[in-house]
Amino acid sequence: MRHLMNALDLSTDEIGRLIDLAERIMNDPDRYADVCKRKKLATCFYEPSTRTRLSFEAAMLNLGGQVLGFSSADSSSAAKGESVADTIRVISHYADICAMRHPKEGAPLVASIHSGIPVINAGDGGHNHPTQTLTDLFTIKILKGHFDNLTIGLCGDLKFGRTVHSLIQAMVRYSNVTFILISPEELRIPDYLRKDTLLANRIKFKEVSVLEDVLPELDLLYMTRVQRERFFNEEDYIRLKDSFILDAKKMSLAPKDMLVLHPLPRVNEIATEVDSDPRAVYFKQAGFGVYIRMALILTLLGLDD
Ligand code: CP
Repeated sequence: MRHLMNALDLSTDEIGRLIDLAERIMNDPDRYADVCKRKKLATCFYEPSTRTRLSFEAAMLNLGGQVLGFSSADSSSAAKGESVADTIRVISHYADICAMRHPKEGAPLVASIHSGIPVINAGDGGHNHPTQTLTDLFTIKILKGHFDNLTIGLCGDLKFGRTVHSLIQAMVRYSNVTFILISPEELRIPDYLRKDTLLANRIKFKEVSVLEDVLPELDLLYMTRVQRERFFNEEDYIRLKDSFILDAKKMSLAPKDMLVLHPLPRVNEIATEVDSDPRAVYFKQAGFGVYIRMALILTLLGLDD
């Protein structure tokens, strides 16, 4: 039995196979419509979600399986004090696979230790979000065609942004990738990522605070939301929340083939006028998430053949 806690749990070969399978599913969905008949996915979400939970559920339904679960801690027995360990022990009797989101870093890992079924980390605090990373990689592969030789701008909340942390860790394994890290001083990437991932692997990167200055250099711009729920202090959130707003004027500085990705939800950081720019692919990206999650469910259930 295998779990997915971190994008790095998968080798680049395994990620390549998942992406190939997701592409085959996307091109011929009917072929996979009954593959998970009589299988059940439990979605245990202790924190709000639209895309991750519903795309997991859509993925299992598209595969002919069924879904059950809860969408907030308040609507589960966590509200009565039940531990994650006990919850997953019980859910192991009800479902064949579980996607879990939790505000506490490491909670899905604890669940995996006590689980009788594969557990997928669907986002744990400010730590990791591996299926968002798989979605991002699938989007890059489909729309750019390759992972090597890319200059990637990551903009916004790089301190608490788990999608950013997972994406950097995944992308450093490809050749000649350069990162431009665009954030206010207070929201720079955590030290461990700078030292253990970027410096340790001799990855080219720079940290800047003005988006306009670097836009002409980018192949990809990964925008992120400043996350109110991760701040201890409302004043800091209000001061930093509108640090970067991508609008049509700024897009005019970017290369014609630069793609704009965003894990969503968006708040103010991308003006809605950018949505009609063909380089804005964040809604397509959310759609691609269904296919890669279908591929992941099949793989973890051993049904990928
Ligand atoms: N990208 C993402 O994780 O979105 P949700 O919080 O809506 O699941």
